[in-house]
Amino acid sequence: MMIDSHCHLLKEDYENKEEVIKKMKDNIIIVSGASPKDIDEIIELINNYKNIYATIGIHPEFASTYTEEDLLKVEKSLTHPKVVGIGEIGLDYHYGKENKEKQKELFIKQINLANTYNKTIVIHSRDAKEDTYNIIEKYKAKNINCNMHCYSYDLEMAKKITSQGITLGIGGILTFKNEKNLKEIVRTLDLSNFLLETDSPYLSPEPLRGKQNEPYNIIYVAKKIAELKDITLEKVLEETTKNTLRQFVIKR
Ligand code: NI
Repeated sequence: MMIDSHCHLLKEDYENKEEVIKKMKDNIIIVSGASPKDIDEIIELINNYKNIYATIGIHPEFASTYTEEDLLKVEKSLTHPKVVGIGEIGLDYHYGKENKEKQKELFIKQINLANTYNKTIVIHSRDAKEDTYNIIEKYKAKNINCNMHCYSYDLEMAKKITSQGITLGIGGILTFKNEKNLKEIVRTLDLSNFLLETDSPYLSPEPLRGKQNEPYNIIYVAKKIAELKDITLEKVLEETTKNTLRQFVIKR
């Protein structure tokens, strides 16, 4: 079995959604919420498919436009038994330099929700390494699980956060020919720190780069991890599945 720990599976992204889901019928998919407008569609999806779970949250790109009603809707969704986390939430200074304070405020509010509802946090963080670290350090309750999705920072930060039990989401970028940083991280750190993810429909792995990504393609990421760590593909799938079930407290 394998688990795509982070993807987006909305109607607007896929003409062949049914087919894409069918390919993962023996596996698990965790769909990530980003926009408040998608919550209803995601809840419908997890109600309809046994092997699909979700995290719900408001992405930092909506830090200036979300409403209190949106936040209440996120909160309400956290009581659904198949909503296994809050996310993706965080900071993005690559696209949002001008509203850093609003982003921090939204991030902290949602960390507090995770603490209250005992939900795993899934972080989106881009060009905001220090602020992300400091906020997590200050606001996340000790017992709350945390995953940094599509990890893009250095080895030093990876060592620091994994030593605190935060897992790293590893996706298609690992397979890119010119990528060195993430490969070094995968070689260096123990397999117990990694979750597989596609971030579909984005970031297709080699050899499918440029095409629409889909959850089944985590197999290419797993193969790359096996190659870099010189272990079997089975071992990678078995361990990352265990890591993900533990991280999101999914009982199978
Ligand atoms: Ni995402």
